[in-house]
Amino acid sequence: MPDPVMPDRVTINEVGPRDGLQSQSRILPVAERLQLIRALEAAGISRIEAGSFVSPKAVPAMANTDLLLESLDRQGPANYSFLIPNMKGYELARDAGAESVTMVVYASETMARRNARMGMEDAERAAWKIIDLARADGIEVIVIVAVSFGCPFEGAVDSAIVNNIAARFVEAGIHRLVLADTIGAADPAQVGALLASLAGDHGPGVFGCHFHDTRAMALANVYAALQAGIRWFDSSIGGLGGCPFAPGASGNVATEDVVVMLQQMGMKTGIDAARLLEASDLATELTGTAPGGRVRNWLRGQLNS
Ligand code: COA
Ligand code: ZN
Repeated sequence: MPDPVMPDRVTINEVGPRDGLQSQSRILPVAERLQLIRALEAAGISRIEAGSFVSPKAVPAMANTDLLLESLDRQGPANYSFLIPNMKGYELARDAGAESVTMVVYASETMARRNARMGMEDAERAAWKIIDLARADGIEVIVIVAVSFGCPFEGAVDSAIVNNIAARFVEAGIHRLVLADTIGAADPAQVGALLASLAGDHGPGVFGCHFHDTRAMALANVYAALQAGIRWFDSSIGGLGGCPFAPGASGNVATEDVVVMLQQMGMKTGIDAARLLEASDLATELTGTAPGGRVRNWLRGQLNS
C-alpha cells in the first residue's frame, strides 16, 4: 500500500548515455550511443541525459556529442539534456541545437577544482551566466550539485552548504535542481534529513536526486528521497556509471531497479520493464561490462514464465 505522502508519478531521467558511458574503457561510436538511446526511448523513458559537451581530451567517450545531437530526432519521444561543465560547454551545446543543458556546480572546493578546474564560486558564477543566456536562447537549464552528500577529497559535506546553494537557485526560479551523490557516500538517514529540510523550505517539486551505488545504498536512498516528496530521479541503465574525476565512485543506481521498485509500490513511471530489460542487455553488449542492475535476473524470469 503506497504511503500517502508518496508521489504516484515519478520522472526517471536516464543518465546512462552520459554518466554510464563516460568512464567505460570501451569508447562507443556515435551510432552505438544512438542505438542505446533508441532502446531507452522504446522502453518509454521520457528524459535522457544524452551526452556531454566537455573536453574530448578529458573525457574521450563523450567526443562527438554534437554529431550525436544532430542524429537525435527533436520530435522524438524523449527530451534530451546535455551535461556542461563551463561556458564553453554551453556555447557548444547551444550551437549544436541543444534544448536543455545540465550545468554542474559543487558542494566542495576540491571536487570543483578537480572536475572543472575552477573553484566552487566560479562554477556557480558560470552557472548564473549560463542561466541568463539560456533564458534568452530559450534553453532549459538543469543545475546539478555534485558531491552534495560527500566528497572523495574533503569527506563529509556540511548540509548547510547544499542548503545555501539550493536557496540561491530555487529562489531565483531555477526549474530543476538535482542533488548528486557523485561517489555514492550517502545513507538513507542523511538523504531523508536533507531532502525533508529542502522540501520543507522550498517544496519538493523543484528537486531531483542522483545516486551512485558504491555502498549498496542507492535504492534505499531513492526510497528516502521519495518519502520526502521527490519525484525526479537520475538513474542509469544496467547501473553503468561513475565519474572519472571522483576516485572510488561506482555505477549509478540501475534504472531497472528503480523502475521495478516504483511500479511494485504502485507508482507510475510510464516505463515498460520488459523493454527496459532489452535496453539493459544492449548496454551490456555494447560496453562489455556486467550491469549492476540487481533486479535483472528476477525480471527475466518473470518475463519468461
Ligand atoms: N568542451 C570542449 N572542450 C573544452 C571545454 C568544453 N566544455 N572546456 C574546455 N575545453 C577545452 C579547451 O578548448 C582546451 O582545448 P585545447 O587544449 O585543445 O586548447 C582544453 O579543454 C583546456 O581548456 P581550458 O580553458 O584550459 O579548460 P579548463 O582547464 O578551464 O577546463 C575542463 C577544462 C575541466 C572543462 C575539461 O577538462 C573538461 O571538460 N573536463 C570534463 C569534466 C567532466 O566531464 N566530468 C565528468 C562529469 S561531471
Ligand atoms: Zn553521476
